[in-house]
Amino acid sequence: MHINSFNLRTVLLLIMVLLMPAISLIAQKKDGKTIYPGAVWPDNRGNPIQAHGGGIIRLGSTYYWFGEYRAKDNPPGYRYVGCYSSKDLVNWTFLKRIQFSDPENLGAGWVLERPKVYYNEKTKKFVMYMHLDDRSYKFARVGVAVSDKVDGDYQFVKSFRPLGLESRDIGQFIDDDGSCYLIFESRPTRGFYIARLSDDYLDVAEQTCFISAPLEGGAIVQYNGLYYAIGSAMTGWNPNPNKFATAESLKGPWSEFTNIAPPEKNTYGSQSTMLIKVTGSKDTTVIFMGDQWKPSTQWDSRYLWMPVEIGDGKLRLPEPKPWKLNIKTGEVKIENN
Ligand code: DGJ
Repeated sequence: MHINSFNLRTVLLLIMVLLMPAISLIAQKKDGKTIYPGAVWPDNRGNPIQAHGGGIIRLGSTYYWFGEYRAKDNPPGYRYVGCYSSKDLVNWTFLKRIQFSDPENLGAGWVLERPKVYYNEKTKKFVMYMHLDDRSYKFARVGVAVSDKVDGDYQFVKSFRPLGLESRDIGQFIDDDGSCYLIFESRPTRGFYIARLSDDYLDVAEQTCFISAPLEGGAIVQYNGLYYAIGSAMTGWNPNPNKFATAESLKGPWSEFTNIAPPEKNTYGSQSTMLIKVTGSKDTTVIFMGDQWKPSTQWDSRYLWMPVEIGDGKLRLPEPKPWKLNIKTGEVKIENN
């Protein structure tokens, strides 16, 4: 068939028009400034970030994100914790896949979930907490591992039941004064505990509070002097309406728990893991970090991060949309808002 130059131009134009949406999406994904809740989130290598059930610490101006590293090509037998760094909470550099080999002989299907790392100024050690379990979730203990470097080879130290209680999902809270807490879910007492860490962070020193609400995925943030706790109902990997409560002191009393989003949305398919506060020069933003679990393809589980509407005792997770964060000013811009 003979294609003259007019036809060729028309065909090329048509192809470009058809490809425009895809081209602009790729460009958006590469602008390096936008967080896309629920989309594949590539690290600096172009690999999907593997830091599920994660926690974040900030050291100076660098953020470190730790979480379950569930890549499809993980060598079997071991469990892994991913460690990434970022200056802006958007672009993440892969630092290390930290390897653990069944430290408590829990057998096939052993569980390492929701790792959280604290930095201890006095001992200069990085202390990792993790939920350790056997395949039927009966062991119900925390594991502790330490490292001299944030992305070092963490050495397993011990496992224990905090305050002598069964502990499954764990959460991390570091208050503005630097004091560190472990949040853990206790099935027998139907609720979650907030426990202050000991001076060396290798243990819990005391019970700060017991929140009597059967929730897991516990997370806390302090905003304008009020504490906000969130958690999810216990429905395994399936999403449910996550809820929040407030208290003037970490010790309570805590208000009733209320939905953070319309209940039929099931937290937009996600489950809470942490609330991060970014205090900038102009604004303070609190980010809901959630996991969108994919139980049969866990390597493809996604992250739902959205800035929440927070203040005066209210907390609301808005409908997920792409958004930008200015890490210096703390300001947020949600697309189409
Ligand atoms: C819900 C927890 O939040 C997850 O971390 C994980 O333990 C699943 N349950 C397992 O079903």
